[in-house]
Amino acid sequence: MSRLNDKVAVITGGGSGIGLAIALRFVQEGARVVITGRRQEALDDALAVIGTQATAFCGDVSRKDDVARLYEQVGKLHGRIDVLVANAGVIHPAPFEAVTDEQYDSQFEINVRGVFQTTQKALSLLRDGGSIVLVSSIAHFKALEGHCVYAATKAAVRSFARSWAYDLKHRGIRVNCLSPGPVKTPIIGKMGIAEEHLEAFEKGVGEKIPLGRLGRPEELAAAALFLASDESSFVTGIDLCADGGLGQI
Ligand SMILES: NC(=O)c1ccc[n+]([C@@H]2O[C@H](COP(=O)([O-])OP(=O)(O)OC[C@H]3O[C@@H](n4cnc5c(N)ncnc54)[C@H](OP(=O)(O)O)[C@@H]3O)[C@@H](O)[C@H]2O)c1
Repeated sequence: MSRLNDKVAVITGGGSGIGLAIALRFVQEGARVVITGRRQEALDDALAVIGTQATAFCGDVSRKDDVARLYEQVGKLHGRIDVLVANAGVIHPAPFEAVTDEQYDSQFEINVRGVFQTTQKALSLLRDGGSIVLVSSIAHFKALEGHCVYAATKAAVRSFARSWAYDLKHRGIRVNCLSPGPVKTPIIGKMGIAEEHLEAFEKGVGEKIPLGRLGRPEELAAAALFLASDESSFVTGIDLCADGGLGQI
């Protein structure tokens, strides 16, 4: 079944991890996708995997000019957007007392301002009746060690979903939040954990999850597909947690 036949989807951070899995699944379901990220090389690798129904835009979601250029390109290429997945995000874990200004600013600039302007600037291209998926985290409602700033940014994302579901209802645009629990993606390697401790870290986290393991990017892609497609046509403003039960039980 092709749940996204002829749809145009923009997926920020689509060059790796959850965003790449979403891009792949959307293309399998009939969509044409535009993926974004800051590293051209990662985007090229992703395009080689996704195939000809994908194009890439190299840019930073926290930079207004880059976002404007992204939509200029999408406008020229497709003329519209049916689905927007604001997925790009970063995490810089640190104990509360040790958080630096750089760590604070980077997480708020990318995770909050990035999601805000990625979505606001998409509005003129977004088709009435379209779907917006904002990727948050279960950290937005559950305290996790070293995550205080990241959690606050993801709480803002969850809040945006609620407000924008209200703000955009007159256009039939649905806005939902997708909150992953721990998922095995390259982000884990960016958390400052020494290479030799990564396996033990992942094992320890997996043991805390009721389903006994980390999530797979494809499992998040399945949840994003539900929110993006007409399968969720009466769903807006929700927080869909795909977390192996970590935030639920
Ligand atoms: N994996 C998890 O356990 C987990 C759990 C909860 C929530 N999440 C959320 O899920 C989302 C995806 O994470 P992931 O696990 O798939 O991590 P990932 O593999 O590191 O992917 C993040 C993507 O975002 C892009 N990105 C980062 N900053 C950007 C910026 N300023 N502008 C444009 N693109 C940017 C990265 O590409 P470049 O570096 O090339 O820019 C990368 O493609 C994030 O929002 C994350 O917070 C992940």
